Amino acid sequence: MTVTESPATPKADKAKELVRVHLRIKRYDPETDTRPRWQEFEVEMSPGDRVLDALHLVKWTQDGTLTFRRSCAHGVCGSDAMVINGENKLACINLIKNIGTDLTIEPIRGLEVIKDLVVDMEPFFAQHRSVMPYLIAHDDPGYKERLQTQEDRDRFDDTTKCILCACCTTSCPIYWANSEYVGPAAIVSAHRFIFDSRDDGAQERLDILNQKSGVFRCKTSFNCTEACPRGIKVTQAIEEVKRAILYDRV
Ligand code: SF4
Ligand code: F3S
Ligand code: FES
Repeated sequence: MTVTESPATPKADKAKELVRVHLRIKRYDPETDTRPRWQEFEVEMSPGDRVLDALHLVKWTQDGTLTFRRSCAHGVCGSDAMVINGENKLACINLIKNIGTDLTIEPIRGLEVIKDLVVDMEPFFAQHRSVMPYLIAHDDPGYKERLQTQEDRDRFDDTTKCILCACCTTSCPIYWANSEYVGPAAIVSAHRFIFDSRDDGAQERLDILNQKSGVFRCKTSFNCTEACPRGIKVTQAIEEVKRAILYDRV
């Protein structure tokens, strides 16, 4: 008689795959805490799950007061930037199997903490608005489209990918030291329009970025480029804006 091993049920397979994840989370509740404190949690999850899933498990099964932002859960909206094991990352695109089962999670730095992992993004968005991140075009194309060549489009293609997550700005040592600095994310937003052949507002934006709080505060530390979850060459974009100011050429 041939003995065959009975096939494992999909449920048993799943249980076998589970790993224990240890989270150390920096908490702060302005209503009860005088200063931030650390709290630890353990959850069981699949290695293919994301850091965001770990936070959801804690919130939904252990402590409903844990507070963090998220929306799309797919790396598109930019709302769940946090410091994970010392680096700025989006919780929704980092898998446990890649990042490990010991997680230290803190709010992004340089912006005021409102509660737990939620920071006040208003100063960040105010800096974004300050560079006029929209098309300024004086001519009226009527019913025609504003055309440009592929070559023209390529000049700012990289900076169109920004999702305003703030990973870059809140990893910049210059920004930590002086929050007046407009920051890399705002410069990326400005770059996207400065180098757009259809736009007429380049000089205005360059004048804004040539001020004391502008682009020359950058000391090329590259933290921003390393932190960008969209792979944007942030420091290169900043250098292109600096050169456009220095050589008066877009
Ligand atoms: Fe986020 Fe990258 Fe945009 Fe900075 S440049 S806000 S890191 S997407
Ligand atoms: Fe800061 Fe990036 Fe410049 S980290 S110093 S903005 S290269
Ligand atoms: Fe939207 Fe992570 S939740 S980018």
